[in-house]
Amino acid sequence: MDLKLLAESEDGGYQPIAGNRSRGLYCNDCRIVLQNSRPSSVDFIYIDPPYYTKRKFHGRGRQEATRPGALHFDDRWKGGHVAYLEFLEQRVRLMHRVLRPEGVLLVHLDWHIVHYVKVMLDQIFGIDRLINELICHYQTGGASKRHFSRKHDTILVYGRGDTYYFNAAVVAAPRSPKALHRARWSKGARISRQHTHKNPDDVITIPALNPMAGERTGFPTQKPLALLELLISAFCPPEGVVADYFCGSGTTLTAARRLGRFYTGSDISAAAVRMVRKRLRET
Ligand SMILES: C[S@@+](CC[C@H](N)C(=O)[O-])C[C@H]1O[C@@H](n2cnc3c(N)ncnc32)[C@H](O)[C@@H]1O
Repeated sequence: MDLKLLAESEDGGYQPIAGNRSRGLYCNDCRIVLQNSRPSSVDFIYIDPPYYTKRKFHGRGRQEATRPGALHFDDRWKGGHVAYLEFLEQRVRLMHRVLRPEGVLLVHLDWHIVHYVKVMLDQIFGIDRLINELICHYQTGGASKRHFSRKHDTILVYGRGDTYYFNAAVVAAPRSPKALHRARWSKGARISRQHTHKNPDDVITIPALNPMAGERTGFPTQKPLALLELLISAFCPPEGVVADYFCGSGTTLTAARRLGRFYTGSDISAAAVRMVRKRLRET
């Protein structure tokens, strides 16, 4: 990593975090961070970049980065969707380069632009390298009278190569009480985890982040820790390196730290990076 380049960033560039699992938290455009990262060094990349919503996001919390009214990030694009796609493509190509041969990239988006990004990812990774199209179904938010209510995001999961890590057993979900009852009745004493749990499917129900939940930071686009813990447990080997180059409030890095993985990340906002550092220290 070229520390001089990173030191030009507003927050002083390189930000080592306490704890030996940290591989660095950077305050900079992730293009610069990625250009200075070692090729084939990361096992799991999750990104939750701007969604091409064409609006500004403001904070809803009490910290410096999230005060109500403080600009969190601007998702308006002068050159429209073409400019957005160029921005993302440049950075995703660099992510492809830093992934290990068996590494995976997860891209979290919604209905605004995900279909264009799917085509772009097919071109970079290869159309056969799509592992999953995960649907994250939300039960929160209002209902629309003008169309069906928009209640899901999409996470596209691509493998850099043909083989990748997936631990179905660790993310297996308990079966319904009815199915459990049936299994107990038919298997009796021979019942095992295989009968009580089932492999997860590609529709993930996301419980709302309770407004009083301890993990709530006030970031308007914060994702739940439980979602990131599920994804990392499933797709990142136990001693693997997790990266999030649009880390926002630091949910991915916090989840990685809780799960004992190595982690690295970046965000262009200095206030966000300061907040992530604090969140990681308290994890
Ligand atoms: C949707 S938010 C991420 C939210 C995050 N997943 C969480 O749970 O808090 C997108 C983030 O990307 C950051 N960002 C936008 N452009 C960037 C760039 N070029 N390089 C790095 N970060 C960028 C924004 O500052 C914002 O914090």
